[in-house]
Formats: sequence, structure tokens, C-alpha cells
Amino acid sequence: MAISIKPLTPHFGAELTGVDISNHITNIQFGEIREAFDEYSVLVLPDQPLTDEQQIIFSQRFGILESTRALNPGSGTPFARQSNLDIKTGETIPLSDRRMFYQKANMLWHSDSTFKSVPSLCSVLSAREIPPVGGATEFASTRVLYGRLSENEQNKFADLVIEHDFVYSRGIVGFTLSEDEAAKFPAAHHDLVRKNKNNGRRSLMIGAHAKTVVGWSKDQGRTFLENLVLRATAPNLIYRHEWRENDVVIWDNQAILHRATPYDTTNHRRLMQRTTISSSMPTN
Ligand code: SIN
Repeated sequence: MAISIKPLTPHFGAELTGVDISNHITNIQFGEIREAFDEYSVLVLPDQPLTDEQQIIFSQRFGILESTRALNPGSGTPFARQSNLDIKTGETIPLSDRRMFYQKANMLWHSDSTFKSVPSLCSVLSAREIPPVGGATEFASTRVLYGRLSENEQNKFADLVIEHDFVYSRGIVGFTLSEDEAAKFPAAHHDLVRKNKNNGRRSLMIGAHAKTVVGWSKDQGRTFLENLVLRATAPNLIYRHEWRENDVVIWDNQAILHRATPYDTTNHRRLMQRTTISSSMPTN
């Protein structure tokens, strides 16, 4: 059966059906998925129940998996666990718990792992348990934003370098890291403009981890970066994904900002397993 592709918005995003990613997929099938990924930036694959092992095998088709660092319950594994459930007991975690506080930062527009010197290519998120209401994920495209920049802006942006800092982005929601924790997350510098090596399309590396423009004053840099996020995430440009159990969504961290949205974490359960695939090369 051939893979069908249905665009989700006029700007980016597509739903893919006609493939079972829990089983071995052929090179031809993966080629179609990879082409759709480069073209649409967000792929929604409904009805794909996955075990952890199957998710790892599928994700590895895109490249080398990142190992999750400290602070996420999936630390030391290829999974970033986005959940209000205790990894050992399966019970909901109280709102006041430090782990829930940490999850709040996912509600800021961000691209995964831009704070690493080798950033991510893409993420694969599978919906294992979802709340009956709330808990959608929203997406916006910095490739679309790049296409809307004036020529003058495109020229000016070509020379800018951005500092990305995980300690800074956690600080936005009031989450502080101990000195030992912070030492594991040194800041990284990336060119503002990122190019997809398969199709040459350009996008911007911005979002919650982007702290400052190298060489600019703090205020100037903040105003500039916040304005870009506002422009990228204009309501008419975003895609909001309301999860169904067993949905798998793949997004391109080179071109996509995303954010989690609230749900009733005391009364409802949400378990999403994310694998994050490295780009395996520095940006500059
Ligand atoms: C993420 O930020 O990687 C996960 C988003 C979500 O849990 O909706």
C-alpha cells in the first residue's frame, strides 16, 4: 500500500497514512517519509501503537539518537519522557513536585536541543496515554517565517550568531539548576540561519533556549529574539495537534518551534515518549 500524504495547513505539516512504522519499513518507504519530512516539517502518523523498542528502531532511520541528560526522568536512555506520571510507580506527580515544575518549560515555544553544540535534526513523539481534554501540542515554522522576511532582513540575519542556553530557558519559568546540574549544560553558539542540507531551504534557530545575539546588548538581543518568535507563532501560522492515543508526530528541529499546552495534571494521565535524533554535525 502506498503512503498517502495530506497537508494539514497551507504552510507546513502533513498527515501520513498507509505505512506501519512498528514493523520493518523498506528503504523506499523510509525515502518517502524522509522526503515528506524535508518538505512538510511536521508529520502526523495516526494509529501507530509503538513499544519503546519499536520507537527506537524507527527513530534510528533518521540518524543517531540523543541520550537524554539529567533532569528528565528518562535520563540516561534515548527517551525524554513528557509525562505527569512517576516513572517508577505510574502514579500522578503532585503539581508542587520539582519534576512537574521542570515540565512547565515545555510550554514555551522551543526547538529541542538547540542548547547543544551539536543540535537535533528531529524528534519523534508517541502518544501512549492522553488526557480526555487539553494537552495538545502546537507547532510553528521558522522556515515559513524566513520566507516572509524582507530581503534586507535576510541579508542582515545571515551574519548573526545566537547563544542558546538551557540554564537560561529553565530560568524563564523559575526553575533553577544547582551548580553541579548547570555545569552539565554549557551554552552553545549557532548561526541564526540554518539550512536544510537536502533541499537548501532556510529557517531560523530561535525559541526558548535562544538567550542572546552574540555581540549585541542584552536588551537589544532579547527584543530581537522575542519579536522573531512572535512573528513565527502568529495564530494564523500555527498548527495545533490534538492528540489521539497512538498518534506519532515527527517534527524537524531545524525548522519547527513547538510547545506543550496545559491539561489537568492532577486528575488526568499523560504519557508521551520522545526520541530525539541528533543532526550529528555542528551548525557553524
Ligand atoms: C516537547 O516539548 O518535546 C513535548 C511537547 C509535548 O509534550 O506536548
